[in-house]
Amino acid sequence: MSDIISVNGTPQRLPDDPRTSLLDFLRQHIGLTGTKKGCDHGQCGACTVIVNGIRINSCLTLAAMHDGDEVTTIEGLGTPDRPSDLQKAFLEHDGFQCGYCTPGQICSATAMLQEIANDWPSDASEDLEGPPQLTGEEIRERMSGNLCRCGAYANIVAAIREVAE
Ligand code: FES
Repeated sequence: MSDIISVNGTPQRLPDDPRTSLLDFLRQHIGLTGTKKGCDHGQCGACTVIVNGIRINSCLTLAAMHDGDEVTTIEGLGTPDRPSDLQKAFLEHDGFQCGYCTPGQICSATAMLQEIANDWPSDASEDLEGPPQLTGEEIRERMSGNLCRCGAYANIVAAIREVAE
């Protein structure tokens, strides 16, 4: 046990209270409020962050369970001056209305696209340029854990599709 967690590349000491959720740790202990609390019950995806490359609902896990892990939040994906490709695409496609679900959507989509890239065999035929293109339907299925109460799904899918191509 090191009692240290890496958040966006910065080592942070885990909270003394072992009952602290990862979500509350990020928002209340180290001030990274980009990660949102929606339902706090694993149903909306607003709290999605990336832990060791895997997207998870940070409301459903305790910070203490992530000793030594690497966490990436929306703040770690880009900045207003240097947004990630997905952040740019969400802006270009109006992939939000109120924006509350957006950090979770972008963290989830970032990890999802990386998962697909990782699954693509490195010894694939040279005739193939890359993983098969994601259809809008597949993106909706793979992003089904992230709800948007405003219903901006068409634009969210368009933004993800642009980056996936
Ligand atoms: Fe974690 Fe809704 S706040 S899934």
